[in-house]
Amino acid sequence: MSQSGLDRGDVLGAPYAQSIARPATIHVCSACGHEESRWAGQCSACGEWNTLVEEVRRHGQRAARAGAAIPGSTGALTPVPLGEVAAAAHARLQTGIGELDGVLGGGLVPGSLVLIGGAPGIGKSTLTTMALAHLTAAGRRTLYVSAEESAAQIRLRAQRLTGGTPLAIPVIAETDLGAVLATLESVRPEVCVIDSVQTLHSAELSSAAGSVGQVREVAGEILRVAKARGICVLLVGHVTKDGALAGPRVLEHLVDCVLQFEGERERTYRTVRAIKNRFGSTNEAGVFEMRDHGLVEVLDASAMFVSEATRAPGSVVLCAMQGSRPLLVEVQALVSPSELEPPRRVAAGFDRNRLALVLAVLGRHGGIGLGTADVFVNVVGGIRADEPGADLAVALAVASAARGVAMTSPAGRPLACFGELGLTGELRSVAHGDRRIAEATKFGLAPALSPDSHRTVREALAAALGGRQRSPRVAA
Ligand code: TYD
Ligand code: MG
Repeated sequence: MSQSGLDRGDVLGAPYAQSIARPATIHVCSACGHEESRWAGQCSACGEWNTLVEEVRRHGQRAARAGAAIPGSTGALTPVPLGEVAAAAHARLQTGIGELDGVLGGGLVPGSLVLIGGAPGIGKSTLTTMALAHLTAAGRRTLYVSAEESAAQIRLRAQRLTGGTPLAIPVIAETDLGAVLATLESVRPEVCVIDSVQTLHSAELSSAAGSVGQVREVAGEILRVAKARGICVLLVGHVTKDGALAGPRVLEHLVDCVLQFEGERERTYRTVRAIKNRFGSTNEAGVFEMRDHGLVEVLDASAMFVSEATRAPGSVVLCAMQGSRPLLVEVQALVSPSELEPPRRVAAGFDRNRLALVLAVLGRHGGIGLGTADVFVNVVGGIRADEPGADLAVALAVASAARGVAMTSPAGRPLACFGELGLTGELRSVAHGDRRIAEATKFGLAPALSPDSHRTVREALAAALGGRQRSPRVAA
């Protein structure tokens, strides 16, 4: 960097000096809080395995842990009545991406810490770059810290996104936490992106970047500077295959807002939802499509999914909720005789354990046993239907595939449905039933099959299959 404040020599000086006389670190058991001076596979106090996490030993830490009086503590504080606490209304910073601002509750809150989690390749860098490009153009002081890609790579991405407009986002490519903190102190941006929390590395800890100890230390230090300087930080974190914010999960209590970026990498549709938001609702979700020039907001997703729905056996339309917004999305199933013991159950966009439950209810209460069949379920477009309201759609799609009968509305349109399956075969109401029905009506799919119209899965199956039941394709 040419700016003197960003000069490598300047900013790296301090941490390098520290790394020579490395302060002692401790290893704390995350299960029982026991401290060890060295890492060990097993905690010698509680006997748990792989629970020791490296931490920087800070002044007074041991005393505080032990519950003893903290040296230098100034004694009692005077509580203030809540009504007299000064609380400024937050003037939000608009990212210029309507769907993202909506999920945040109206834009970024100055000085807040937002964690954006998602699988590699889902579009986290793309989304944060687009947001910074807009904020920079709007005259905000910004900073993009990349600990994953080179500045040249970031430039190539940004060029793709902004289509030739001048790229004004200040950027550093650095993995050392000390250097990044020093840069934050000297640049004092209003909004900063850290991409990613798992690739930054604190020289004070000997553990590798991305380990629980490192991730905590990195986030904790960035939080400290951000709160002191009023910097709004977008912290990017990778999630593992099973969906857990591994590493970043330990950060959820630290940050003000946790956004989850979901979808399948190979598909173009992505959703962003808030799973924690101190400054807004967690009911919001935004839908995006990944195009050649970046993420494009999808405002009429229902219309698109309905027009693409196949109406073939094995297809129904789910009246889903993405946050507080209704979304019509196609659910497809394929049922085929299995060669395997146990048979295969594959689900994309729907929980596998939930699929097992739906199949059990179908077999026990719907007369559709699939013990010797492979079952595949797919929520089209890479959308995740992780809500109980998706049960009935999965059940009907599977029943339709198993019977080889297409399910359509009386008007010959795709069949729309929603509802939770109870273990005794009853249909249970789910949140926002009226809004789901209104969405189905809006797109000409009324009447929708729902807990309002049918009480049990058997009744719903009878209504959907009608007299059109063929002999079962797949024997029970
Ligand atoms: P990226 O934002 O790098 O993902 P993450 O930071 O979450 O790992 O982008 C992921 C994918 O998106 C990448 O495979 C390339 C693709 N992409 C597009 O299709 N269009 C675009 O305009 C950009 C920038 C990326
Ligand atoms: Mg990235």
